Order: sequence, then C-alpha cells, then structure tokens
Amino acid sequence: EKGGYDHYMLKEIFEQPTALRQAIAGRIDPIEGRVELEGLSIPDGFLEGVDEIQFVACGTSYHACLYAKQLMEEFADVRATVEFASEYAVGSGRNPERTLVVGVSQSGETADTLRALRMASRVGIRTLGVTNTVGSTMARECDDALYIRAGPEIGVAATKTFASQVIVLAMFALTVADVRGELDPRAARKLLENLQDLPGAVQSVLDNNDAIEEVADAYAGGEAFFFIGRRLGGPVALEGALKLKEISYDHAEGFPAGELKHGPLALVTEETPVLAILTDGTRPDETRNNVKEVQSRGAPVITLAAEGYQSDDEVGFDVPDLGLLEPLVANVYLQLFAYHVADSKGRAIDRPRNLAKSVTVE
Ligand code: F6R
Repeated sequence: EKGGYDHYMLKEIFEQPTALRQAIAGRIDPIEGRVELEGLSIPDGFLEGVDEIQFVACGTSYHACLYAKQLMEEFADVRATVEFASEYAVGSGRNPERTLVVGVSQSGETADTLRALRMASRVGIRTLGVTNTVGSTMARECDDALYIRAGPEIGVAATKTFASQVIVLAMFALTVADVRGELDPRAARKLLENLQDLPGAVQSVLDNNDAIEEVADAYAGGEAFFFIGRRLGGPVALEGALKLKEISYDHAEGFPAGELKHGPLALVTEETPVLAILTDGTRPDETRNNVKEVQSRGAPVITLAAEGYQSDDEVGFDVPDLGLLEPLVANVYLQLFAYHVADSKGRAIDRPRNLAKSVTVE
C-alpha cells in the first residue's frame, strides 16, 4: 500500500503534484483572475467589514498559516494574525463581529485547535475550518469548512498537506481581496498562473530526488542544522527544521534570516550545515548577506535558489520561476533532505518516537 516506496512519507512527498492539482481543480479561472471556492457561506457583507483575520493552528499547519498571513495582508489588505492554537486567548479589545478566526488542521481533530475555535465561537466570533478531513470535528463545528483535498496522509510527518493548505489559503486570500474590492487583477492573474504551474514545478524537484539524497548523505553527520529565509521564506525555514528534527532526531532550528546575527550565529560552526532559501518573496539579496556571514564562519551552506541567486561555489538546488510560490517549491527540497538524512540513520520515519499523527490531547 506504500505504492513501491519505502515509507508513507516518501510516497506522500511524491503525491504532491496530484494533491496540488486536486486542491485547485474547478476553483480557479486564471484568465479572469478569479477564484470560486465552493460551499463557503460567509456573507460578502461580513468579509467586507472584517478588520482582523486570526489564523490558529499547530505545528506544520501553523507554518502554513504564517505563509498565508503574508499573502492575506498583501492581497486583501486586511490585518491578519497567526497564533499557536494552544496559546489562543480571546483578546478584550477585539470586536467579535468584525473578526474571523480561521482554524487550519490536516486532521481536523487536533485538540488545541478545536479548543481555540470553540473559545472564539463562544464569544460570537465567526469560524472557518480549513482541513483535509471531510466530516472531521473541525469541519462539523466551524461555521464554514474549506477542504484542501490532499488525500489521506498517513506518515506522522505532514508533507503534502502543507503545500495544499498554503494554496487553499492563497485562494481564500484572493476571495477576500475580491469581496473587499482590493483585488489587483494583474497580481491575481499572476498568482493563479503560478498556482497552475506549481504541480509541474514540484515535479521538477521530485525528479531531482537522487541528487538531494546524495547531498543529504554527505551532510547527515552535521551537529545541528539551521534553516534561514526571509518573509515567505521564514515559515518554510521553520517547516524545514521541524521536518528534520521530528524524523531524524537531529537538532534543527529555523530562523528569519535577519535574526541570525542576534544570537543564533553563536551556534554556527564548521559542523552546522545551513540551508538557505533565496527565492522570490524572500528578499534573497538580503539573505545572501546572511549566507556570507555563516560561510565566513566555515559553515557548509546548501541553497535553494531561484535564477540569479545561485552561486557556483556552493552546494545548491534550483527553484523554478514561480513568483510568490517559489518558497513552497523550496520546501519540497527540504522535505526530501529531511527524509534522506533520517533514512541514512535508519530512523522510524513514518512513526517517529513520542509523536502521534493526530494530537487529541491539549
Ligand atoms: C509535523 C506535524 C505536526 C502537525 C500538528 C497539527 O510534521 O505533523 O506538527 O502539523 O500536530 O496537526 P493538524 O494539522 O492535524 O492539526
């Protein structure tokens, strides 16, 4: 049932082009620059009047929200915040009638996320659940549900659902922008074209799997691993580190690249590989300076870089031209990197110690 793959995780990484096609099927019209998300009953009048969209989630879903927040603010010009579901509290100054809480959960059963949504609901805040699981508690309890249609995910480490969550939230951002009269047709068309091209771009990364395996094997002995990226690269850096730590048990941390020099740089040595995201939407020129900082301390660097940001004298992988979705493509390299590091150490990749696929306790 693993379809010839050694682990569900690898199978699910390779299922991403299909999952992404399913997520956009019938929902976008790139020529008109429009999105049609079925089944959403949020009245236009409500979305027009919203002054804050709060995303709540855990783990990988939280990282997807950090990405989506930036797209929401950029496209719909509405204040968007992201909170760990386990830390969520209803603030006193907030107007419940002008707030939308968006819970994001692959399983739709994560106790922390359900609790946050219930807290919001109790004070009259409208809730939207974005999930992979039809009929889940989240889908049933929220005022609205939006499905990411990634198909079942069995490996404990979330992989294909991350990209699917981000792009469904991107489509939702365009919907909000449209209703609020903020939609920039050119920017919207570009994002929708990028969405259509994303499955093919992800496939091109998967076709590079052998090369990534070689690099992962070469660097697997690192003492610790750091991941850096700015703006949309920030959430991907966090996600890359989470993936590596949970399945390889290596120490891994992700940072917004500019924060390195404010502390973490003290940890950087010749034994700590640094993975850097240098693509559109991540201020690659500035991150390049941070790459130089760690290189001058002897750290091996692996870049995931778009055209024009690669350098011949370092190990790197190319990210195809895909605008604001380039960091999502870079993330697929990081998933494969984590997988191969863990595999080279013989870890129980689909069932890492101490973790469960669906965390139903608070
Ligand atoms: C990481 C991972 C977890 C989940 C988190 C939330 O690979 O799988 O961090 O992302 O437990 O789960 P869901 O999305 O089901 O709410």
